[in-house]
Amino acid sequence: MTPTLRWTGDSIEIIDQTRLPAELVLLDVRDVASAVDAIERLAIRGAPALGAFGALALVVGLDEAQPGSLDAARELLERLRHDIGDARPTAVNLRWAVDRTIDAALAAADSLSPSSTANASDPDGHSDDSSSAGGVAELRQRLLDEALAIGEEDARACAEIGRFGRELLADATVIATHCNAGRLATAGTGTALGVVYAKAAAGEPVRVLAAETRPLLQGARLTAWELADAGIDVSVVADAAMASLIAGGEVDAVIVGADRIAANGDTANKVGTLAHALAAADAGIEFYIAAPTTTIDAALPSGECIAIEQRNPDEVHHAGGTRLTPTDAVAVNPAFDVTPARLITAIITDAGVLRPPYDQSIARALAAAGGVRRGLSEC
Ligand code: MRU
Repeated sequence: MTPTLRWTGDSIEIIDQTRLPAELVLLDVRDVASAVDAIERLAIRGAPALGAFGALALVVGLDEAQPGSLDAARELLERLRHDIGDARPTAVNLRWAVDRTIDAALAAADSLSPSSTANASDPDGHSDDSSSAGGVAELRQRLLDEALAIGEEDARACAEIGRFGRELLADATVIATHCNAGRLATAGTGTALGVVYAKAAAGEPVRVLAAETRPLLQGARLTAWELADAGIDVSVVADAAMASLIAGGEVDAVIVGADRIAANGDTANKVGTLAHALAAADAGIEFYIAAPTTTIDAALPSGECIAIEQRNPDEVHHAGGTRLTPTDAVAVNPAFDVTPARLITAIITDAGVLRPPYDQSIARALAAAGGVRRGLSEC
């Protein structure tokens, strides 16, 4: 299986998800402009994959700029913190991973022994060229180590989510999902689809109803592609068809991913998620969020504080390159919506299955996950 993203040694290779399912095209990302472009046009997407990619893009940025001193490298990283970290505002993993990687590397650089950063024979401690180069090389190594660790941790988190989710959904066969929260959206097997893969691996029957996910069709294009590729029974349904399928008893449970989870459990995910949650609540079926603890932004008390990315209206006007709307029609294009915690049966995380009241279960899960620093959001 082609990995969604991969560090080649001096660049990041990604599957260009804008080209799926028609063709499997790989992109070699070796400068910041291409990295930001890939994020903005969703060539790489899904909150955890964005985090792993954004962290690696810092190394690409350092290699591209070749700063001549640690001070210049620090300045560059502070610029990249925003240029890369804020390229998509709702997916908290992106800014979280960029912050974590930069902060770890800078802390290591600050603790470097004076002999590795400065000319020991200079009483004023001024760096010479070779010691500066050594400091920048160590900083680069630290960035790379942290970025690779983020990807590895995400892969482990997906496996844990799959394990917990499989136990929880032992009796569910027909699973509805929205957007793509699978291997294309993470550095592992996925969150919502991680549960599906775990059920399939355990030999349990499983069938997925994938909502097509207008306007960019991540469900129809990506979820259908990766599940079919894995030999899993998948049917694409129009977004508007899901409510009646749920109401008609054709769905056992709904599982979706998340882009940002507030401290009270309110969850932002791809626009259209809320409609499925409302339909599930009305029908009395279970509605689950599957997400790593890194998607929890404990700085935000509730979903009202989550910034919703507004995307280009042209995405709504067009489908498959064809304009659908009259030329003078206006479109609005919020990329995400917020499902209130009261509609969520449980949140399946790498730290276990969280149940209401979420303010308490989330606080406990974050403490168990080591109290790692979360997003920098303010409300
Ligand atoms: O705009 P996208 O395609 O990046 O949106 C992705 C989603 O909404 C996913 O459900 C979410 O990021 C979780 S991915 C494990």
